Amino acid sequence: MPRVFSGIKPTGDMHLGNYIGAVSRWVEDQDRHDALFCVVDLHALTVPWNPAELTARTREVATLLMAAGLDPDRCTLFVQSHVPEHSILTWLLNNLATYGELHRMTQFKDKSKGQESVSVGLFDYPVLMASDILLYDTDEVPVGDDQRQHVELTRDIAQRFNHRFGDTFVVPKATFPPAGARIMDLQNPTAKMSKSDVSPEGTVLVLDDPKVVAKKIKRAVTDSGSEARYDPETKPGVSNLLELHAALTGGTIAASEREFAGLQYGALKTAVAEVTVEALRPVRERYAELAADPAELDRLLAIGAEKARSMAAPVLERAYRHAGLLMPGGASATT
Ligand code: TRP
Repeated sequence: MPRVFSGIKPTGDMHLGNYIGAVSRWVEDQDRHDALFCVVDLHALTVPWNPAELTARTREVATLLMAAGLDPDRCTLFVQSHVPEHSILTWLLNNLATYGELHRMTQFKDKSKGQESVSVGLFDYPVLMASDILLYDTDEVPVGDDQRQHVELTRDIAQRFNHRFGDTFVVPKATFPPAGARIMDLQNPTAKMSKSDVSPEGTVLVLDDPKVVAKKIKRAVTDSGSEARYDPETKPGVSNLLELHAALTGGTIAASEREFAGLQYGALKTAVAEVTVEALRPVRERYAELAADPAELDRLLAIGAEKARSMAAPVLERAYRHAGLLMPGGASATT
């Protein structure tokens, strides 16, 4: 089975866009793949953070992932900082990545723009991400389009290492959500749904109260005209609602379009509100159960970290050896 690896940062609340575009795909991936999913807390350190909040968010995201259906028996679910090999490999790979390439990363440019102080960690973010991926001999990396460039860089680093030091890393490829899994902001449907602090009314949170979910969807911006037709160019608001409907009912956009043909926007909104509330209900309920037992979460995360370490350690050792670092006990690349 191909190995997949993906990560999610413990910053901000998980929203419907994350859920449909990423997490629900991961849930499907766990049976078709040898899957690892990681709460990337070390990546959260690349911008200023509050320690207590980081701890709480890390638990929350891990709990939400399990509530959404990631099953520690069917995948490896763990917290990045529990597996020190991620940081260790980053140092080695830092010496294969160049200043020029990291400087060209658009995410770095966006996040550093206008900041008075930019940490070295923010600059190095993509190398830590490359380490996450390469440590597990990953074949596929399911990500959003905004991570395309980082996975490209990961491939470049892996190929460069293999070229200089012999076959060491599997060169991974990124996979992207199918069209229709890109959920837009309800108030500003030409922008991707993003963090709730940027657009509280346009962002549905997975843990929002059902009444709030329904309200946000019913207030979604629609377009002029009254026909529920799929056309992201001229009808971004209505198209987004149709995509949501299709994604949450497991049908096609064409089927949703047919269902609402000739009806007013209000009918579409009511239906989308209903399917969204119903889709999130079991996640909310399971979350409440799991959150009531933090010791059980810690136990499951410890098992996940143990599994991840047992996969990461031999890959790190291979990379160390191929790079010529003297192995404890005297072994080296040539032995
Ligand atoms: N950078 C990714 C994001 O912001 C998160 C991430 C970290 C990741 N490490 C990863 C994703 C490894 C895929 C694989 O969404």
